[in-house]
Amino acid sequence: MMKLLANHWYPILESREIKTGRPFGVERLGMKLVLWRGEKGHLHCQLDRCPHLGAALSKGTVCKDQIVCPFHGFEFDPQGQCLHIPANGHQARIPAGMSLQTFTVREAHGFVWFWSGEPLERYPAIPFFSDLAGWPYTTSIADWPTHYTRTIENQLDVAHLAFVHKTTIGAGGRSFVDGPYVETGLEQGVQSIRVWVSNFQDQGQPHRSQAELAEVNAGKEPSLHFLFPGLWKLQISDQIQNMIAFVPINEHQTRYYLRAYHKTHNRLLGKMLTQVMSFSNGFILNQDKRVVLTQLPLDSSEAEQDKLIGADRAISQFRRLYRRLLEGGEVELPQFAATKDSL
Ligand code: FES
Ligand SMILES: [Fe+2]
Repeated sequence: MMKLLANHWYPILESREIKTGRPFGVERLGMKLVLWRGEKGHLHCQLDRCPHLGAALSKGTVCKDQIVCPFHGFEFDPQGQCLHIPANGHQARIPAGMSLQTFTVREAHGFVWFWSGEPLERYPAIPFFSDLAGWPYTTSIADWPTHYTRTIENQLDVAHLAFVHKTTIGAGGRSFVDGPYVETGLEQGVQSIRVWVSNFQDQGQPHRSQAELAEVNAGKEPSLHFLFPGLWKLQISDQIQNMIAFVPINEHQTRYYLRAYHKTHNRLLGKMLTQVMSFSNGFILNQDKRVVLTQLPLDSSEAEQDKLIGADRAISQFRRLYRRLLEGGEVELPQFAATKDSL
């Protein structure tokens, strides 16, 4: 079963992927889900499995504020309640238990967010990088056949730049990792990791301590910023930033929504620039992919044999916090999930 952190908002899709009037079937968080917009455009998310004979509702239709199964026409409302069984006629009572499992989703910052916990009266705010809100961006999507912990750790790994990216962002042979300086804490209600990177050519210099690096980096924006369960931002300059939403598809597949942002009021220029950035981001990410896909085991929380070094400080903090959050409560999700072969 997929390990997920309880009571977190997971980004699962971009809002624009779900059109009005058409159910959208997708695998996320180890489950097959159907998302659809009812009247007024409100978004709903349910298990993509009809309680009658197990057909996928995503192959059905949306009619007013109901989703209709393509197999025998059963109709379900946004809460998952079955309202009509055509074969039984309008007079018949709906049998108890004839309902669809329904999940809480919200839309914000161009993403659809899935609540990994019990329904609540009031939900916590959706954490996001507030400085990015409203600026032009371009998204590129990549699916990698590995566990999401490995993809996150790769974006917190500051020791691979001079090797994996030696022809691009890691050019210059700066293989000596001073630090990195890492801070963890609670931010917007979730755990965060901030990383200040200082990589140099190896001149035989000693490492500075975390206290020394704290002083040097005081008042500076972190180079990398991570918010649990899966949001990451890279500060390239005050105006130019990349962000990633890491979306678990299942235990062995992860989707990247990688956005290039340019903070400019000239939206046309911003859009054009982010398209160019997006192209080069794709190239750089492919350099990572070649190596990250060889890492075993796929789930880094099962990689007790990994021998971490000082330069892996951000990764070890991620592992520590991830373990602690998992211990705080894993989510019980429906057992029904797609198998590898059904994809
Ligand atoms: S399987 Fe959905 S109505 Fe029969
Ligand atoms: Fe990389």
